[in-house]
Amino acid sequence: MNLRSFLFVPGDSEKKLAKGATVGADALILDLEDAVAAPRKPLAREMVREYLNAHPKQRASQLWVRINPLDEGGLDDLAAVVRAAPDGIVIPKTHGPADVLRLSHYLDVLEKRDDVASTIRILPVATETAQAPFRLGDYANFDLPRLVGLTWGAEDLSAAIGASTNRGADGDWAFTYKMVRSACLLAAKSIDVQAIETLYADFRDSDGLRSSCESAAREGFTGRIAIHPDQVAVINDAFMPSASDVAYARRVIAAFEVASGSGAVGLDGKMLDMPHFKQAQKVLALSEAYSRR
Ligand code: COA
Ligand code: MG
Repeated sequence: MNLRSFLFVPGDSEKKLAKGATVGADALILDLEDAVAAPRKPLAREMVREYLNAHPKQRASQLWVRINPLDEGGLDDLAAVVRAAPDGIVIPKTHGPADVLRLSHYLDVLEKRDDVASTIRILPVATETAQAPFRLGDYANFDLPRLVGLTWGAEDLSAAIGASTNRGADGDWAFTYKMVRSACLLAAKSIDVQAIETLYADFRDSDGLRSSCESAAREGFTGRIAIHPDQVAVINDAFMPSASDVAYARRVIAAFEVASGSGAVGLDGKMLDMPHFKQAQKVLALSEAYSRR
């Protein structure tokens, strides 16, 4: 299932955990990492486990957990939450697909230990260390059936490389982050998993969020991280094919049907060939998947 919005919810906030369930995100990410101060991590782990137990499957939003890096408490997080059967695990600060494989092996064992009937999925934050961007192409050489997508992050990467900002003079991402974002998009597509756009920090600016999401969706991203409930509806809307996208896709497919057998057709004075046909099929498939929900 395609997931458009992943809303981060700090795992130690009773109020936000309660609110999270009501906002219509395709997935919540119950956070045990950066949104939780170190002294509160053990408490957050317990609260997240209880929350998962109190919200069994068939819930409106999938429930994911962001653990700490495996060598910094993440293994304890996993051991605590797997028995409550989250839909997936977000793993931060990965250096590459070997880290995802390691997590996957841990899940193999813990699911057995705890009699978890479902398969817990994985979404790595795939660009938060200086090494990570160089390994993005290696995902294609690993067999990772739990992997549903790749997402990227600019904040930890700038801290990792000692940059005082990740923005250029124009306010847009600086070149390093644009490069990493594109590489993450391509890596996700190369293994046919979701490409998840990073968060939009200015959570009061819904117009800015909307246009940023629309541009990400045009580039091929299929979903986005949210940090505030108000961002969820904007994200859900932007990553679902619009009525006009669907109408156009139908016209493209019809044009190919009429010209049966020919690889290129004209529509509205433009040449269309196989890539356009395939893109139109993808738009229709996505729209049908959402209408079945
Ligand atoms: N999940 C669930 N509920 C949230 C929420 C979130 N991420 N962010 C805010 N809310 C709730 C608030 O508790 C508040 O609830 P109320 O109406 O019952 O009082 C309501 O939504 C409105 O919140 P608001 O006052 O606008 O924001 P805030 O100042 O309370 O919080 C942040 C701002 C940024 C601290 C907060 O949005 C947040 O914690 N975001 C997630 C941070 C995170 O997880 N970071 C790690 C990943 S980068
Ligand atoms: Mg972080």
